[in-house]
Parts: sequence; structure tokens; C-alpha cells
Amino acid sequence: AANHTPQITPNRIRTILFGKYEIDPWYSAPYPEEYITHNGILYICEYCFKYMKSYVVLVRHMVKCKCNHPPGDEIYRHDSLSIFEVNGSTNKIYCQNLCLFAKMFLDHKTLYYDVEPFLFYILTEWDNEGCHFVGYFSKEKCSASNFNVSCILTMPTYQRKGYGNFLIEFSYLLSSVEGVLGTPEKPLSDLGLISYRKFWKQRVLEAISDVREPTTITQISSLTGMTNDDVVSALENCNMLRVSEASVDGPPEFYIEIDTEEIENSLKKFNLKPQLRVNPENLCWNPHK
Ligand code: ACO
Ligand code: ZN
Repeated sequence: AANHTPQITPNRIRTILFGKYEIDPWYSAPYPEEYITHNGILYICEYCFKYMKSYVVLVRHMVKCKCNHPPGDEIYRHDSLSIFEVNGSTNKIYCQNLCLFAKMFLDHKTLYYDVEPFLFYILTEWDNEGCHFVGYFSKEKCSASNFNVSCILTMPTYQRKGYGNFLIEFSYLLSSVEGVLGTPEKPLSDLGLISYRKFWKQRVLEAISDVREPTTITQISSLTGMTNDDVVSALENCNMLRVSEASVDGPPEFYIEIDTEEIENSLKKFNLKPQLRVNPENLCWNPHK
């Protein structure tokens, strides 16, 4: 006889189980249809990002999964925080699985399968069980536009604690070792934009405060590793950018109006809350050739 019991259509991931966390996705990700089961839960290994249909399979996998840290090279360590560099060509499956995972929290970027041209920088926090995934950013091995970040993500369970800012600072450290100015790939998400704005503002104000004399946009650019455009937008945000009258024989020029007291006040505000900062001496890394 025909079964007329109403069926719940299993077409959506409601929750993921990831390490000790249950997380609800913000957006849909193209996981294979057969992995989306009736209960709407997807089980993901927190170390290798392998996705599974059931808790039993996950438990069995966790016994076998020998890695309790990301693949690749640990290029930075400070206290319990580490950053691993993972190559999209040598660890293709890991990177593809990571991108699928990230898609659940990123609406506007669509990189899942073509991971070879990218390097992935994975931020983890260590405890006696292993290096737990906190967030990451991806970066093109070779960027014609000097993009130093393609996608950046902090796990929802770790957001608003300064890790995003830490990853952004780290991305600029890599660019400075490479000797280039960097900027994130556009478009930025809303959260990406507010995070970058805050980072840029602090970085520019710190640079101006270090120089302690009149300075130019190009100078700030080379001190911060930020592109001219990003310096200009940060200065605009701080209301420190002025335009000189256009002269007959040339275009109008930008100049910076420094209000030392205002800068010191803003910097104090940044330092009210303890911040995670990158220690350049802890980086052990050579640029990709
Ligand atoms: N509401 C208001 N302000 C916020 C929020 C929020 N939800 N999130 C970040 N900010 C601002 C705050 O000013 C914050 O500083 P504060 O907490 O001292 O006020 C600042 O940004 C930095 O916050 P962090 O804690 O350092 O950043 P977080 O670890 O939360 O990561 C990130 C920021 C990566 C953008 C995170 O929100 C995320 O993963 N979002 C989903 C994915 C995404 O949108 N990524 C960026 C896409 S653009 C690109 O990839 C180039
Ligand atoms: Zn695993």
C-alpha cells in the first residue's frame, strides 16, 4: 500500500556538528544532496573537514582521523595560537572541504573546487586534545592585483573576540615580508567591510602617531603596507583628508590634516580592550615562489 505519511523534505542543512559545537549555517553550501539527511544535521570532522551523514560515522572517523591539526606547515606560533600554511595543490581535498564549510558563512564568494591557485592560512587554538580551528583566510599564490586575502572567515563560535583582526594583521605581515602593498579581494561582505575599516583606521593612526610629523599618503602607504586607496579611505573615515584647491595646471591634491589629540584619543580607545596582536618575530616563513 502507498505510504501516505507526510515526509519532511530533506533539502537543507539545519545544523552542523563540528568539534564540540553545533552551529547553524547562515547560507547554503553545495554539499552533495545525499549528505543532507532527514534530521538536517551534517557531521563535520573539525580537523580535516570531512563531512558525514551520521554521528556513528563521525565517531568512527574520529578514531581513524590521525590529524589533530591542519595539514601543511606551522608558520606561526604564539602561546596557544598557531597558523598553518596549507597549499591548495598538495592538500586539495582538505582545502575543498574547508571552502564548502566556509560557504555556509560567506554569501558572495564562490570558490569550492578550484583550490590549486590558492594558499590557505589556518588559525588554530591549541589545547591538550589538538589544534582547534578558529578561522582562516585564503590567498592567491600569484595575484595580479596584489590581493593579500581572497576569503576570510572566523568561525561563528569565535567571532567578535579579535581573531578576524588578528588574521587581517597577519595577512599584511605576509605582504610586508613579500615587499608588496596588499589589499583584500573585492567585494567585501558587510562584516568584512566593518572589520577592515576598523583595522585600517587603527593601522593608519598608529603610523601617523609613530611618524610624529607631517606625512603623505604615499608615506603612510609604505609604513602600513596598505594601498593608497585603502589609506585614503581610512583617512576619510577619520575625517583627516583634505583636498587642496585645484590649480590651473594640475588636478586637486589630497593632503592630511592631523589632529594629534584626536589621534591619541582614538588610539586609547582601541587599547581599552586587550587586543590580540601579531608578533612578527614568531613568523617562520618564506614567500611562495
Ligand atoms: N557587529 C558589529 N561590528 C562587528 C561585527 C559585528 N557582528 N563583527 C566584527 N565587527 C567589527 C567590530 O568593530 C570589531 O571590533 P570590536 O569587537 O572590538 O568592536 C571588528 O570588526 C573586528 O572584530 P573581530 O572580532 O576581530 O572579527 P571576527 O573574528 O568576528 O571576524 C569576520 C570578522 C572575519 C569578517 C567575521 O565576521 C566572519 O567570518 N564573517 C563571515 C564571513 C565574512 O563575511 N568574511 C569576510 C568576507 S570579505 C573577504 O573575504 C575579503
Ligand atoms: Zn578528520
